[in-house]
Amino acid sequence: MVTHRYTVVAIILHWVMAIGIGLLAVMGLVMTHLKLDPMRLFQLYQLHKSIGVTVLLAAVVRLAWRLAHRPPELPESMPPLERAAASTGHLLLYGFLFGLPLTGWALVSVSVIAIPTVIFGVIPWPHLPVLSTLADKAPVEAVFKQVHAFGAYALLALVGGHAAAALRHHFIIRDDVLLRMLPRRRRTTGVQPVEVNQNVRSIS
Ligand code: HEM
Repeated sequence: MVTHRYTVVAIILHWVMAIGIGLLAVMGLVMTHLKLDPMRLFQLYQLHKSIGVTVLLAAVVRLAWRLAHRPPELPESMPPLERAAASTGHLLLYGFLFGLPLTGWALVSVSVIAIPTVIFGVIPWPHLPVLSTLADKAPVEAVFKQVHAFGAYALLALVGGHAAAALRHHFIIRDDVLLRMLPRRRRTTGVQPVEVNQNVRSIS
């Protein structure tokens, strides 16, 4: 039944983080692959770091919320292999939501030019201890740059698969898996809502 939905907080966190990751991916590619005016580049780096740290903090809130609130069950009609794929995908997404911003934070902490991070131009953000005090930072910075870039591409591939699976549920299997992660639509008539069965496939 559609009554099994994600909570409003889970829905907000999900879409805010999805938008954040999309923006970070575009900014990251622009920063590292286009020739920009140094001032613009500096601003873009600061914005990328600010949104990245926000995604990291949102991931902490999201994990805490997820542990305290059971998500809706997967449709009963879902084959075991698809269930396993969905759980593995979600687990990996959580891993990347923490891991990728942490590699970005590590990268700026060990940067040889040591530019301070000021979140949205207001809150000074510290560098990670140990990394910021290393004597020979350059080789470690180079490693974190690679790890951050490959991690970002891997996350984008994972997000692509995740979105494709959600669209397959909506348009091909035609169940409520995507709808329960969308804001509930306000009813404009006095007509009673018709409950949609999760297992639409079996009656269509
Ligand atoms: C989910 C979070 C994040 C995503 C999706 C993301 C994505 C990206 C991408 C796609 C690139 C370009 C990689 C390349 O092609 O070389 C990049 C570069 C970069 N990111 Fe992130 N990022 C995230 C979080 C962070 C955070 C939290 C920080 C720092 C606090 C950060 C700092 C940087 C820096 C400094 C670069 C430039 C590296 C270089 O100069 O080669 N990122 N990021």
